[in-house]
Amino acid sequence: MDAASFLLLRIEDPARARSWLRETLPEITTAADKTSEDLSHWTTGVNLAVTWSGLKALGLPAEALETFPAEFREGMSARVDILGDTGESAPEAWEFGGTSGPAAQDALHLLLMLYGTTEAEVSSLLDAQRARLEEGGLRELGVQRAARIRNSEGHVVEHFGFRDGISQPLIEGFTDAKHPAPDALGPTKAGEFLLGYENEYAEIPDPPWVPAALDVTGVLPAGREAGWKELGRNGSYLVLRKLRQDVEAFQHFLEAHKEVAVGETDAFKKQWLAAKMMGRWPDGTPLRPGEDAPPQHASARGHGVDNTFGFAAKDSEGYGCPVASHIRRANPRDGLPPNAELSRQVSRRHRILRRGMTYADGADRGMIFIGINANIARQFEFLQQTWLNNSKFGGRYDERDLLVTHGAGTMTLPRQPLRRCVEGIERFVTMKGGGYFFLPGLKALEFLARL
Ligand code: HEM
Repeated sequence: MDAASFLLLRIEDPARARSWLRETLPEITTAADKTSEDLSHWTTGVNLAVTWSGLKALGLPAEALETFPAEFREGMSARVDILGDTGESAPEAWEFGGTSGPAAQDALHLLLMLYGTTEAEVSSLLDAQRARLEEGGLRELGVQRAARIRNSEGHVVEHFGFRDGISQPLIEGFTDAKHPAPDALGPTKAGEFLLGYENEYAEIPDPPWVPAALDVTGVLPAGREAGWKELGRNGSYLVLRKLRQDVEAFQHFLEAHKEVAVGETDAFKKQWLAAKMMGRWPDGTPLRPGEDAPPQHASARGHGVDNTFGFAAKDSEGYGCPVASHIRRANPRDGLPPNAELSRQVSRRHRILRRGMTYADGADRGMIFIGINANIARQFEFLQQTWLNNSKFGGRYDERDLLVTHGAGTMTLPRQPLRRCVEGIERFVTMKGGGYFFLPGLKALEFLARL
């Protein structure tokens, strides 16, 4: 689905909001009992996610609210030290989910996600939803439009010009035998993305619970302890970040630093430099040592969508894909010390499902980043803090991810006989708004609607 609208809502009248939720339930898109054939024919989708203050506003009592993890309860705008959202990216200036304004974190209760194959389809879904908001005791705080943009070959790209949506975890038990999604890390346990299932630590963590007495219609599964029901089962957490991309500054930067790069023409040098920062060629082909251009016959190796590679055997030093590049920081695969096997295990414990799209609000362009994970602190926040924003990642000094954070400083590009160093890197990405949401399973939504 190529178009979306994200409707940000505040609950003003809890009783009416619950009856709105009961009416909306049949419209919520679910993959339950669907074959991959059914899924491929979907043209529209509706999903609902709730913040911690939204759960409170719906009437969930304190004893249940407290069973949610701390990072979700605190919310994204309170996690700036971990996320590195400082300076221009600070939550004081966010359009939504921040610390001020009508759509501040505490006022933001629900995220209604509307998907369609065309903008027109999404607009009609949006009109239909908007017509019911007042009656449903809900106030619209804002709408964020998003879309998938494509290059001339029809592949999904982001605004810096790279192919996107390539690497996704392969989830154990969800493999479609006809279309296996190759992944160098092998299958990742479902519990990394869905609450109530075994995770990569061979544990089933306690999902959020509610006192059994509240579940009057008996929709929720029994909890591990008597007197409690599981609210989390089949749910997940959704991380939303509106990230403005300064495409002009990025192009300027490539122009100003192209002499560091390899190549015959200026255009190629810029492409080379950008690829080293991202960790893939713009068409998505992985960077390999000894290859200073995208391979001519890349299609023979799964053109663009290859996700089966590792770093340990042939590129441990990052001569192909720099250790500090975006994709290598975001998923080090088998490349972390002390050894490949352990590294694969560590990497599997910090994966997220990415469901982002681009946006264009007039001249402002960027990405609506959506990450889905069962444990925000261990997955999304860890990625952001310990790998992307970490100035010492991979034995580097004072280097940060160039595409995600704020004034990264320098980047080392390993090369023989001498490494190359890119200096004076500015900020290309600014945080504009976001939040942490609980993505309830259908049973949990049913329960919330009948609270
Ligand atoms: C505007 C900001 C961002 C841009 C332009 C961007 C762009 C990209 C691109 C082009 C890819 C490679 C294509 C693919 O594998 O699908 C990628 C991969 C990835 N990105 Fe980002 N990204 C951004 C922000 C983030 C953030 C905030 C995170 C997480 C905190 C993140 C995590 C990842 C991960 C986990 C991968 C897959 C790595 C792999 O498995 O190879 N990205 N990103």
